[in-house]
Amino acid sequence: MPKSIAIDGPAGAGKSTIAKKVSANLGFIYLDTGAMYRTVALKAINEGVDTKSQNDVEKIVENIDITISHENNTQKIFLDGVDVSEAIRTPEVSAGASNVAVFKEVRLKLVDLQRKIASDKNVVMDGRDIGSYVLPNADLKIFLTATVDERARRRYEELLQKGQKVDFEEVKADMIIRDNNDSSRTFAPLVKAEDAIEVDSTSMTIDEVVEKIMYYYLEAGKTS
Ligand code: DC
Repeated sequence: MPKSIAIDGPAGAGKSTIAKKVSANLGFIYLDTGAMYRTVALKAINEGVDTKSQNDVEKIVENIDITISHENNTQKIFLDGVDVSEAIRTPEVSAGASNVAVFKEVRLKLVDLQRKIASDKNVVMDGRDIGSYVLPNADLKIFLTATVDERARRRYEELLQKGQKVDFEEVKADMIIRDNNDSSRTFAPLVKAEDAIEVDSTSMTIDEVVEKIMYYYLEAGKTS
């Protein structure tokens, strides 16, 4: 059985940075599931479809071609054969991803892809429902949090570094809307799995968080 680590939590908690480092340490692949929801949203936006329209979004997802590649521990995501790894990182796509992620048909399709990848590769997977729904038997489940101010600050700086013009209060407000949306949907919402370990990264460095997760993983291995 391949090994798996699930890392869930709200936006901006540092999941992808941490998951990338943990996967590199262990020689696992890293799967960023948020990128898949973002890709569905990008396709909707490109086709002029409202990301809140269930019928239209479900039609888009029927024939969508999403492929993922891993090279040098970096995930690339392709929409209908085109590399969209950068194009999915805009605030508009962030909001759209949270909207399309509400729809069950969208989730079922993407979860199927996520489980297929985990069925034959050791993986660190990050998202919102990995420990609670996608991989209920994961070897380790982490629920990564931080205060909303700290998460908004991190996201704001990330966007600034990419040269995007952003306003801190706007980033924070968008984040609060997205968290509420992700936590309140009925099907597979953002939730801490019962057997997940909560790690609050507010005043921890990236390396401290990575070290803690490595410790939990190695400890879990001793008892299984
Ligand atoms: O992790 P992220 O910010 O790239 O995710 C984008 C959106 O996708 C997020 O608002 C919620 C949704 N998402 C989800 O519903 N389930 C996942 N496993 C991953 C992301």
